[in-house]
Amino acid sequence: TTNGPRGQSCVINIKCLNAISINDRQSENGGEEDTVDPWNVATNSAKGVDYDKLIVRFGSSKIDQELVDRIEKVSGQKPHRFLRRGIFFSHRDMNQVLDAYEKQKSFYLYTGRGPSSQAMHVGHLIPFVFTKWLQDVFDIPLVIQLTDDEKYLWKDLSLEDCHRFAEENAKDIIACGFDVNKTFIFSDLDYMGSSPEFYRNVVKVQKHVTFNQVKGIFGFSDSDCIGKISFPAIQAAPAFSSSFPQIFKGRKDVQCLIPCAIDQDPYFRMTRDVAPRIGYPKPALLHSTFFPALQGAQTKMSASDANSSIFLTDTPKQIKNKVNKHAFSGGKDTIEEHREQGGNPDIDVAFMYLTFFMEDDEQLEKIRQDYTSGILLTGELKKMLIETLQPMITAHQENRKNVTDEMVKQFMTPRPLNFNF
Ligand code: TRP
Repeated sequence: TTNGPRGQSCVINIKCLNAISINDRQSENGGEEDTVDPWNVATNSAKGVDYDKLIVRFGSSKIDQELVDRIEKVSGQKPHRFLRRGIFFSHRDMNQVLDAYEKQKSFYLYTGRGPSSQAMHVGHLIPFVFTKWLQDVFDIPLVIQLTDDEKYLWKDLSLEDCHRFAEENAKDIIACGFDVNKTFIFSDLDYMGSSPEFYRNVVKVQKHVTFNQVKGIFGFSDSDCIGKISFPAIQAAPAFSSSFPQIFKGRKDVQCLIPCAIDQDPYFRMTRDVAPRIGYPKPALLHSTFFPALQGAQTKMSASDANSSIFLTDTPKQIKNKVNKHAFSGGKDTIEEHREQGGNPDIDVAFMYLTFFMEDDEQLEKIRQDYTSGILLTGELKKMLIETLQPMITAHQENRKNVTDEMVKQFMTPRPLNFNF
């Protein structure tokens, strides 16, 4: 036995990827280790998590230039900047999805969010912005799971608060521009009880995963409540098309593609392991990197630390102050030194944020060069970020204001979508 991700002991078996990885992390990194699981992200490197090592640890595949080119060819669209810049960097079975799509075999998208508070930050939007692009270019159905049950089990919150946060968060998600005719958003607390087909799939998954396996994958211990232990089955179920008979007309063979941050991968390693044993195709995956905290890429943005995040409710003035005050700088201490030696964009949070949000590749590359050479100062770089974020957040706030309760209800009602399956 060895130590699991949160210090619990777990038996090494093939599924115990986290346990195995701890050994190689220590040997390669002189005792330093990146922590990446659904609850924690931490590294000692100012550049952030070593994502190439994570691909090896998790056994996924790199999204290389060849795959980006192929997505461009199959979709007929310029790849999204998140693909061009390696923000979505890892995948499972994406080539198989594209092979099938080229043969007119459709697929569907599944993503989600754990509604732990009202307050969403810009990092939370990354998977949704990308999923919206995928929905547009491939013209396919999308299901969005809001795991209000998960947040109730993990946090000190009431069921009703979690359910309310799910509906509030749905507004921010809808504000990303999803098409109501192609998108189903659901709260677990509502949908589980209303869909016999969904619950049947949850039970099938529950029967095929042992306590020992979830201990290995998630590090659960004997004192975790049984709700947590069985929850992974609920996050697995939407990866099977038969969980949504109203959309897929009972078909159980429609392939699923899940865009998510890499910390959600443990859930879907488990899902892919179970799928063939219960007669379903394995879901494919596209993994993103994390959105760094303002203080630096050692950890991701956290909604519970106001100074670490740009919230979707921040005013232009708050954005300006947060970036100027808290964004970790890769610049030098004095202007003279900076002009002489240049800054380091690889550890500079303002630059990292621009790679997420600035659309123009050439402009971004020029900023990188000018910052590295010292022509561009930290204050100037931060100003560019502020001027990118302010209109973006204001536009989001406008869009959200236009999302009515009636629209939320529409998105969240189980119904057929505009596709013929
Ligand atoms: N567990 C995720 C969270 O806490 C929410 C989630 C559910 C999800 N299903 C998903 C995220 C599918 C990505 C893809 O945020």
